[in-house]
Amino acid sequence: MLLDVTNLTVSYDKAVLLNNISMHVDEGELVSMVGPNGAGKSTLLRTISGLVAWEKEITRRSTQGDIIIKGSVIFNGERMDQIPANEIVKKGLIHCPERRRPFREMTVLDNLMAGAYLMKDKIQTQENLDQVYQLFPVLHGRSKQISGTLSGGEQQMLAVGRALMSTPKLLCIDEPSTGLAPMMRDEVFKKIMEIKKLGITILLVEQEVKMVFTMTTRNYVLSSGKIIAEGTGDQLLQDEIIRKTYLGL
Ligand SMILES: Nc1ncnc2c1ncn2[C@@H]1O[C@H](COP(=O)(O)OP(=O)(O)OP(=O)(O)O)[C@@H](O)[C@H]1O
Ligand SMILES: [Mg+2]
Repeated sequence: MLLDVTNLTVSYDKAVLLNNISMHVDEGELVSMVGPNGAGKSTLLRTISGLVAWEKEITRRSTQGDIIIKGSVIFNGERMDQIPANEIVKKGLIHCPERRRPFREMTVLDNLMAGAYLMKDKIQTQENLDQVYQLFPVLHGRSKQISGTLSGGEQQMLAVGRALMSTPKLLCIDEPSTGLAPMMRDEVFKKIMEIKKLGITILLVEQEVKMVFTMTTRNYVLSSGKIIAEGTGDQLLQDEIIRKTYLGL
């Protein structure tokens, strides 16, 4: 098991955002986490990658309410819920956040290099850059362009490219297709399949359920902070209640 989440509960003040979540991702898998808006999908990815714990540190110093995290996150045999987010990145657990966010004033190349800022190995960094340019030739052609002037689809490619610069073992991608035109979405999904073929394990949060179910090895359905189903795409689509109530299909 590459990622093993056990009995994870996250509450903000009295609101329980994640309720006793247990899930796992094996090496080489492409697993999706789907479910309605506000289900807690992004919160789950943010907890796994240490961002919620970091937020907790900030709120602890302010007078705002408390964040409580219970349960365990084990990645590659090591507890992640005890170490800071930058250490988690170094272990190869990389989070590509919701809504693409390149540094708008920086060039494409500088954004990509920012993804490698924790990497000490210059040769590996160059190899990663070559790999990103091979995967996204459009970024290669635009390496000197200011990122804020890229199209939406190009910015999404840049966000994924930046994540790849940190040598991921597990890449957690949050809603890469949101806000993109259909053709661009297909392109993004094609790239995700190519990344899987490179041997990178992927945990994908998406709204485009039908499309995603054709790509994944397994899927989890999250609703109101709870995992209510798990299975292959076919298994989940055969269940009428899940299909209608939770997937909106
Ligand atoms: N920092 C926070 N403080 C308080 N509540 C929060 C915080 N972040 C998220 N929430 C709440 O937690 C719930 C889950 O949010 P989350 O963003 O994880 O959902 P999601 O499944 O990713 O939804 P979407 O599909 O719309 O992206 C929501 O009700 C949200 O308002
Ligand atoms: Mg979200």
